[in-house]
Amino acid sequence: MRPRIILNCAASVDGKIALPNRKQLAISNNEDFERVHKLRSECDAIIVGIGTIIEDNPSLTVRNNSGAKPIRVILDTHCRIPPNSNVLQGNSKTIVAVGENPDQTNLENAEILRCGKEKINLTKLLELLSKRGVKKILVEGGETVMWSFLKEELFDEYNIFLSSMIIGGTETPTIAGGKGFQDEKSLLNLKLDSVKQIGNGILVKYRKK
Ligand SMILES: NC(=O)c1ccc[n+]([C@@H]2O[C@H](COP(=O)([O-])OP(=O)(O)OC[C@H]3O[C@@H](n4cnc5c(N)ncnc54)[C@H](OP(=O)(O)O)[C@@H]3O)[C@@H](O)[C@H]2O)c1
Repeated sequence: MRPRIILNCAASVDGKIALPNRKQLAISNNEDFERVHKLRSECDAIIVGIGTIIEDNPSLTVRNNSGAKPIRVILDTHCRIPPNSNVLQGNSKTIVAVGENPDQTNLENAEILRCGKEKINLTKLLELLSKRGVKKILVEGGETVMWSFLKEELFDEYNIFLSSMIIGGTETPTIAGGKGFQDEKSLLNLKLDSVKQIGNGILVKYRKK
């Protein structure tokens, strides 16, 4: 059985998740930030793509007193992760999932896991993580990774924190990037689970239909 998968992102009301130049900005408020850290502490692994590592340089650690240290998993086919990335520091385990011909085969403070050719084979990766006892995964983006998990229907919950702001811009990263569904028949329809106000924003939770 594959691990339980929760997708989580913070977006503006117009569905953008960063600035038009792809730079990170504070979209969540403090309360939502605490919710995400609690969610991280309840998961065995956190997955993000290499685009998010290069753009945002997150630590992907848990900033509460739970002591939880979910494994940080980076989807990085060519292993282009900068050696000074924050996810390669600290004492949480990091796995860099790579393809057939990565640019580097050794990383300090991280395990390299081969699973895929031109991009990471998500089903294979989930299988390998499951064998290591990973039961619950939080996927935190960015737009391309979110698209892949949605398109392949590899999720159980989908949480979107909508902040009361507009970012705009046709090139601005959105909640789901990738190629998009090309016709109405292929759209992914979700089941609305709950809506909750968090400060000046709302948390909308969806499930797979
Ligand atoms: N507001 C939020 O909640 C939030 C959260 C995170 C990120 N962001 C924003 O999102 C933006 C980054 O998004 P992004 O799309 O550029 O980067 P991304 O989704 O983090 O990473 C995408 C890259 O991951 C690699 N990858 C490998 N296997 C994959 C697979 N099966 N599916 C998808 N990707 C795979 C690909 O690069 P290779 O081909 O090199 O492997 C791909 O280009 C930034 O602007 C960041 O600030 C926002």
